[in-house]
Amino acid sequence: MPSTEESQSAERLLAEDHEALGKFLAALLAALDEGDAAKAFARLDLFWARLAMHIRAEHLHLFPGILEALDGGTVKGGDETLSSAEAREAIAQLHDDHDSFMHELAGAVKVMRDCRTTAGGDRTVEIEGVRRTLATVRNRLESHNKLEEELVYRLPAKLFGPEEQNALAVEIRDELKNLPPRFRDEAAVTNGFSEVN
Ligand SMILES: [Fe+2]
Ligand SMILES: [Fe+2]
Repeated sequence: MPSTEESQSAERLLAEDHEALGKFLAALLAALDEGDAAKAFARLDLFWARLAMHIRAEHLHLFPGILEALDGGTVKGGDETLSSAEAREAIAQLHDDHDSFMHELAGAVKVMRDCRTTAGGDRTVEIEGVRRTLATVRNRLESHNKLEEELVYRLPAKLFGPEEQNALAVEIRDELKNLPPRFRDEAAVTNGFSEVN
C-alpha cells in the first residue's frame, strides 16, 4: 500500500506524531540549555499546544471507539489475547498520563511566561525547575507512548472493519492538523521551531 497521507492508518498517524512531538520536546530542551528564555517560551507554548491536539485526537476519537467496541468482550489478534478489562485498564492509565502532562506543562508555561514578562533578575532557578519538569514529562511520555504503540494503537485493526478504520484515520488526521490560530502565523512558527523540521 502506498504511504500517502490518505492511506495512513490512525495507528501510523499517531505514532508519527509521537516522533514529531519528541523532536519538538528535544528542541525545547535545547533552548533551555542555551538559556534563551524567549525561544524556550515559544517552543514550550507550541509543544504544549501540539501535545494537547494529540491528546484531543485520542480522547475524542480513538479511546471512545475502542471502549465501545470492547463491550463485545475479548480482543484477539495473532498469538496474543487481550481481555477487555486489560484494555480498559490501559486506557485509564493513558488518561491519567494525559492529565499529568497537561498539568505539568501548564505549570511550566506559567513559570516561563513570568520569566519573560518580568524584567530583570536571575531566572536560573526557575528555568532549572522547568527543565526538571520537562525531563519528568519526557520520561513518562516515553512509557506512555510505548503502551499506546504496542497495545492500544493496535486495537482498531482488531476491533473495527475497514470503513470504521478509515473514518477513524480521517478524524485523527483532522485533529492533528487543527493547530490553534496563533500558530498558523508563519512568523510565530519560525520563531519557535525553525530548526525542528
Ligand atoms: Fe496519549
Ligand atoms: Fe499518543
